[in-house]
Amino acid sequence: MSGPIGVYDSGFGGLSVLRALRARLPEADFVYLGDSGRAPYGGRDVHTILDLAEQCVERLFDEGAAVVIVACHTVSSVALRHLQARYGTERRRVLGVTIPAAERAVGVTRGRIGFLGTARTVASGTFATEVHKLAAVEVIERAAPLLAPIVEEGWEESEVASAAVARYLHLLGEVDTVVLGCTHYPLLRRAFEGALGPEVTLLDPAPHVAERLVDWVARHPGFVGAGTGRLRALTTGEPTRFAELGQRFLGAPLPAVECLHERDGKLVSGSGGASVGQVVR
Ligand code: DGL
Repeated sequence: MSGPIGVYDSGFGGLSVLRALRARLPEADFVYLGDSGRAPYGGRDVHTILDLAEQCVERLFDEGAAVVIVACHTVSSVALRHLQARYGTERRRVLGVTIPAAERAVGVTRGRIGFLGTARTVASGTFATEVHKLAAVEVIERAAPLLAPIVEEGWEESEVASAAVARYLHLLGEVDTVVLGCTHYPLLRRAFEGALGPEVTLLDPAPHVAERLVDWVARHPGFVGAGTGRLRALTTGEPTRFAELGQRFLGAPLPAVECLHERDGKLVSGSGGASVGQVVR
């Protein structure tokens, strides 16, 4: 029943979460699935996200994982309960990032939390809901849809990044804590730190997600096998680009990236062939 830990994200961003997970569980084996061929998810409708998430989580279970971490804040915000109800059993679990993010934010705030994420994450209101289960504090959530593409372009250190970050922080107004509620945003840390005063706490939830996972693994023996620190990486996107960009998120080179494509509602191995020009079906 025990195997590698599955980690799922809409694309590369979850590799920033995987980085934190591997730092805390260096012996564990991981299998990462980035759905970059169908990302970004952040502006998609809820039912499309549920469909995509089902396929990805099923594939990770098929890879032998007994526990899957949904590293993507968008999926975690709108689809976690669905995935847990559909796939969770005594032998299989699906865990998310929203509750750890809310716990950490409540732990550091002085009363006004700002949260930036994708349009879908913010529209769900799930982060605020989880915070309010823990504490009566104010939560201001704003969508920051320009930030993930800036990171994907490799423009984190640019004036474009600084201007966009400053603009979104302005939309949050006066807050004492800023939560990076999207897996891409930790790469913009420098731009955030440059724009925020020292009195504001900048919170990347990933280390807390890792801390909670370590605790969960200790309380749930048998879900994670004794590994050797092996990593496999799967993508629905272009593997060379995935390996190049992914390295920036993971902070280390990726192993050979394996290709997946969708066939009849399932993710199967192989590239599926590029579609060039018109497609008739
Ligand atoms: N991984 C997504 C998240 O954390 C961001 C990128 C996307 O829109 O797919 O919300």
